[in-house]
Amino acid sequence: MDVLKQKILSEGKVLSDTVLKVDSFLNHQIDPVLMQEIGKEFAQRFKGFDITKILTLESSGIAPAVMTGLTLGVPVVFARKRKSLTLTDHLYSAEVYSFTKKESNEISISQDFISSEDTVLIMDDFLANGQAVFGMIDILNQAKARIAGIGIVIEKGFQEGGKKIRQQGYHVETLANIAKLSDGNVTFKKEETCI
Ligand code: G4P
Repeated sequence: MDVLKQKILSEGKVLSDTVLKVDSFLNHQIDPVLMQEIGKEFAQRFKGFDITKILTLESSGIAPAVMTGLTLGVPVVFARKRKSLTLTDHLYSAEVYSFTKKESNEISISQDFISSEDTVLIMDDFLANGQAVFGMIDILNQAKARIAGIGIVIEKGFQEGGKKIRQQGYHVETLANIAKLSDGNVTFKKEETCI
């Protein structure tokens, strides 16, 4: 997706060979016009998949997921990383270990919002080692929901997550796939779509 790649090149900051900072439009300040374009792009790519719900993870997955849900006309559920006052029982939960942050989070959703009747699109802002996506897959398996595919805004293609998820047969759509981060530069992979 060219407009996203241009935004990454103009505003992204390469913090190291493994970390890209995109706080100005995705992870802290949010660019609503770009999010709307991202939503339209995912909706186009997953048209005809009979999606009934989108599942993402708080916090940065929510903006692109909501814009995709708006275009597809389906609700968006976000898994919580912390127990909330009102989300206490009747939950599906999974353990997610972050290699980046070296910490584990239990992610949860209410059993009220996803069921075996649903066909779900999983979405997230970044795909690195794939732990967040595998946590959401675990939750959807508990709910016996069908998984239509996985939509990722920025994939770090040099890390293992994308490969592992595709090897398990999931349909993954990535809008910007990064081949390399080095010397302050971002190099994108040529192909954007892998099935
Ligand atoms: P994984 O789920 O693919 O295994 O990712 P990992 O544990 O490595 O990442 C943990 C958190 O760090 C996630 O955000 C993920 O989106 C983010 N992350 C990973 N690599 C990068 C990167 O290069 N740049 C940026 N900006 N973020 C990265 P999170 O903790 O869920 O944060 P948030 O959604 O609340 O913002």
